[in-house]
Amino acid sequence: MIKGFIFDLDGVLTDTAEYHYQAWKRMADKLTIPLDREMNEQLKGISRMDSLDRILALGNQTDRYSVEEKERLADEKNEDYKKLILDVTPADLLPGIAELLADLKAAGIRLALASASKNGPVIMEKLGIADLFETVVDPAGLKNGKPDPEIFIKGAEQLQLKPKECVGVEDAQAGIEAINAAGIFSVGVGTKEMMEKADYAVANTNELKLMDILKKANS
Ligand code: BG6
Ligand code: MG
Repeated sequence: MIKGFIFDLDGVLTDTAEYHYQAWKRMADKLTIPLDREMNEQLKGISRMDSLDRILALGNQTDRYSVEEKERLADEKNEDYKKLILDVTPADLLPGIAELLADLKAAGIRLALASASKNGPVIMEKLGIADLFETVVDPAGLKNGKPDPEIFIKGAEQLQLKPKECVGVEDAQAGIEAINAAGIFSVGVGTKEMMEKADYAVANTNELKLMDILKKANS
């Protein structure tokens, strides 16, 4: 019996995954590192500093910067990103998400957020959906990022539910792996290829229908 949904944010509730890419792309260009959209798939769901480390590794620049310099680069990306999310409004919810959240509420299913983003709570406010979520996992308190299951296990705990009573929704490969490892039913949004490991996958958010998901998760 499913009692809770645990959502990723970027790329699931709103298209901020695109803004993360744009901000990282600008940083990568500056560092003369060839970041493209394919490589960007590997950054989805990954924390800010881990993303920077992956970009530096891509450019064979792993040892080029001190810890302090890397902090500065990560801050710079984040300032750039914050400018891109300034104008986020409820109209930026991805297609079908407002309906899905309304259906979940009507069904009495409880909601948690499991995003690696420290900007998550601000974006939820801007989207006008913060009040719908009972609890938000604080990414600053995590020992391990996705694909480790920690963030989804915490999400279930914060809802005081067992993993088996929850559904997790993700657009990142690392996120699907994290949900699966937590023993939670995984729903993926993305191409078949990217969402291969999801228990149930759809191509777009407007295909996320509560009844379809519950049928699959409870079967
Ligand atoms: C995840 C995104 O949700 O949050 C990643 O998929 C991002 O792309 C990560 O790097 C951390 O976000 P932030 O806002 O804390 O830099
Ligand atoms: Mg995401």
